[in-house]
Amino acid sequence: MLWFDENRPSTVPKSKEASSLDGTDAKDTTRFPGLFGTCMSMETATTHMLVAGAKGQLGVRLMEAAAVAGVSASGLDREGMDVASRDSVEAALDSVQPTVVINAAAYTAVDMAESQREAAMAVNARGTQHLAEECQSRGIPLIHVSTDYVFGQAPRRPLLPSDTPCPEGVYAESKRQGEEAFLASGVCGCVIRISWLYDVQGANFLQTMLRLAKAHGSLSVVNDQHGVPTAAPLLAQALVEVAKLGKDMPQGIWHHSHQGHTTWHGFASAIMEVAGLAVPVLPVDTSAFPTAAPRPAWSVLDGEPLRARMGWPSVTWREALEACWSFRNDA
Ligand SMILES: NC(=O)c1ccc[n+]([C@@H]2O[C@H](COP(=O)([O-])OP(=O)(O)OC[C@H]3O[C@@H](n4cnc5c(N)ncnc54)[C@H](OP(=O)(O)O)[C@@H]3O)[C@@H](O)[C@H]2O)c1
Repeated sequence: MLWFDENRPSTVPKSKEASSLDGTDAKDTTRFPGLFGTCMSMETATTHMLVAGAKGQLGVRLMEAAAVAGVSASGLDREGMDVASRDSVEAALDSVQPTVVINAAAYTAVDMAESQREAAMAVNARGTQHLAEECQSRGIPLIHVSTDYVFGQAPRRPLLPSDTPCPEGVYAESKRQGEEAFLASGVCGCVIRISWLYDVQGANFLQTMLRLAKAHGSLSVVNDQHGVPTAAPLLAQALVEVAKLGKDMPQGIWHHSHQGHTTWHGFASAIMEVAGLAVPVLPVDTSAFPTAAPRPAWSVLDGEPLRARMGWPSVTWREALEACWSFRNDA
């Protein structure tokens, strides 16, 4: 089903207008001057963006960011475009006629994927292949969102797109196969890898920490996995900036990350600080929480090349957390 389709003028709408689009509060990016916006002068009147997976954590924020940026966008959920079905992808592209596509659709149940290999591959590998090949044949640029999990074992330094992937686990393998399908298709556009996505809404690490903090007197959180938490509203703004470049967008594989890195324990501690909760956060090893799928011990993506290419300033993960916190509906 096309659950969200908004044609917008090329001017930046007031946040009040944006908030009426789907009943949520699409925040005005001008509240965070300097975070993004180097491409704001680009002409967007002819851009029509299609977001696949528009009801997911990132997809919802992409639609809000498009509205705030004055970019015309159509969001499709699985019913509107099932990426696992080539026929469905063809029909949706023919119907929507986008000038650019962002693929935020994915099978993201990392542990369940270990026992549902076919389901993960159908969406993350073949689904990406369908989108990439159909966009390629129509000359539509595609932004495909991928993951730090493609680096199962990695050197302990910020990881560049040129580093060799070594996925561990079915989810990681399926995402890597999706990247390979994208590259093999020859489609115009880019794969953008991200890590540790969170938001102040939906189901994610931040929300889980807040819920557990309110239910328990203390938290035990893994302190031997290192990565970069990524704020979904800020990532969405960045991806819309890339999408606005159309065929001039960066090509190939890129990493998006805020600056710096931490552990899940460090992130949980920062969440408690930002939320004003005096709940002790105890560091534990990964072995304290066995999971079906392995987790990378080091998945620190280096976002500097993309920042430099796009002219974005550095924003630390901690600054991004504070900016994201202000996206709360009650903020
Ligand atoms: N979350 C993270 O920490 C993280 C980290 C690194 C990278 N990523 C990547 O970032 C992207 C966005 O992640 P997210 O957290 O927003 O994921 P999400 O909340 O799970 O959203 C994914 C969306 O894709 C939809 N979908 C699933 N199968 C589909 C299909 N066959 N056709 C069309 N849509 C389908 C899902 O719909 P249903 O609800 O109907 O299944 C869901 O709405 C993904 O590519 C993910 O791999 C995420």
